[in-house]
Amino acid sequence: MHITPCRAALCAVIAIAPGCVDRGDDLDATADSTVSERASPLLAQGKRLFEEPLPHSNGRSCATCHVMDEHTALSPENVEARLAADPSDPLFHRLDADDPTAATLTFDHLRMGLVRVTLPLPANMDLIDLQGNVVTPPHRTISVWRSVPSIQNTAVTGPYQLDGRAANLSVQAQDAITVHSEGPVLPGHKLDQIAAFESAQFSSARAAFVATLIRLGVAPEDVPIPEQTMALNEQERRGRDVYNLACGTCHGGATTNQIVDRAIHDALFHELQPNGNMVFDVLPDQGPVARTVPHEGEALNTGVGILSGYGQMGLIPSGNDSIELPRYRFRFYTDGTRRQQVTDLPPVPVTASGDPNDLTPALDERGAPIVGPSQGVQWFSTDPGRAAITGDPLDFEAFDVPQLRGIAHTAPYFHDNNSRTLRDVVDLYSRFILVGLGLPEHPPEQPGGQPEMLSVQQKQDLLAFLNRL
Ligand code: HEC
Ligand code: HEC
Repeated sequence: MHITPCRAALCAVIAIAPGCVDRGDDLDATADSTVSERASPLLAQGKRLFEEPLPHSNGRSCATCHVMDEHTALSPENVEARLAADPSDPLFHRLDADDPTAATLTFDHLRMGLVRVTLPLPANMDLIDLQGNVVTPPHRTISVWRSVPSIQNTAVTGPYQLDGRAANLSVQAQDAITVHSEGPVLPGHKLDQIAAFESAQFSSARAAFVATLIRLGVAPEDVPIPEQTMALNEQERRGRDVYNLACGTCHGGATTNQIVDRAIHDALFHELQPNGNMVFDVLPDQGPVARTVPHEGEALNTGVGILSGYGQMGLIPSGNDSIELPRYRFRFYTDGTRRQQVTDLPPVPVTASGDPNDLTPALDERGAPIVGPSQGVQWFSTDPGRAAITGDPLDFEAFDVPQLRGIAHTAPYFHDNNSRTLRDVVDLYSRFILVGLGLPEHPPEQPGGQPEMLSVQQKQDLLAFLNRL
């Protein structure tokens, strides 16, 4: 066994011997490396709490959904296999049935890898219908269907949950116990054990290396990005260049979840009219330019929600279009008295042709498109994202930027499993999401298709790199 000096040094820092053993690669050697659980009783206790159902719960443990030998995510294939093998598996609980009140329960959403998340509506929001009537139910909650993220690499990716609503892993763990397992309130030290276990789960030694340096007090922006010096073949190196150009602006820094291009962040928060439409200035040489407003939040609306909505309407294919997602509209008020309205989202759709199946927005008299903050004609929202936490219309359909290490192993993708494969993710970015971010345009991949922001070659190269990330 041969350990190079550099790797040996890293062994000392990150205490992952297998990751440092020469396997003809650099820090990439270990898949699913875990800081030795035997090294610390804290981790062993945390692992037990994570994997075994708690007394006085509905029989679900964390690992019921965060499947240990599937990179702690939940794949549709895994759900199907368990449903076929044992429909009484605690995963198939009424809580996550398509209709929890039905006499015979069905689990079509769960079979897509989606779990029901019920959230209280902020006091300054109401549900409305397309005519603008308030239709908020008395319990003032909404339910959305969300994917199960991997807990690998969460040591350095807080705040947690897809909408960033949990400040740290201990808070998140209690929330999960209460909601998914209907379990007891755990003492703080036990929650900390779960958090410690989660913080030691990594998709690779590269991820562990980054977390260790940050834990040792190195500022995240000073942590070297391991992929810049990782052994890659020619195509993967080209893919890394595409990543740095098109993805690293938001999935940036050593943690792969830092928004490093603030101009792109700032361009995504739009001034809204009371009717929910964006405000445009029409400039002589440039045409309509969306007016932006300053916003602190790191969650972004990149348009996945509106695209899933189009999937629901059968207008474009999406990986989750076989199941029914909610169709919400929201009214935002200045405060919890709900007397003074701020804006309605999504705004009432106005299409160029008047045909509800037309995706082309109408233009106002100055030539500016009549669209809301998701930047397209939109009939409903399948999930308001961070707005359901903050009550801020600027957070409409905004989600936390996820880290991307180990991403090849946790399909499907996005908050609602919109994309079944990484190939679908890259196509969605190329055709829809990256539009307007300053990249040059390429012809459609298929005749009659959508113009693309990445060439066929760039997409292949990027996929090769993502598969190594
Ligand atoms: C019924 C399935 C289910 C169970 C059981 C479950 N989770 Fe989750 N977990 C989810 C879903 C769904 C999300 C995303 C929810 C959201 O963002 O609204 C999530 C999110 C998380 C996150 C956030 C990850 C991130 O990157 O922000 C962590 C951490 C987590 N769960 C840990 C746990 C722990 C610890 C337990 C056990 C105490 C647990 N989960 C039990 C389904 C589950
Ligand atoms: C403008 C910021 C931004 C850019 C640029 C960006 N992303 Fe994202 N990415 C996000 C946000 C925000 C989410 C969460 C969206 C959601 O779940 O609805 C996300 C989610 C993802 C996911 C889903 C992760 C998971 O665990 O489900 C993948 C994969 C991804 N991005 C890959 C990429 C790739 C590849 C590129 C470059 C082609 C890229 N992103 C460019 C902001 C960005």
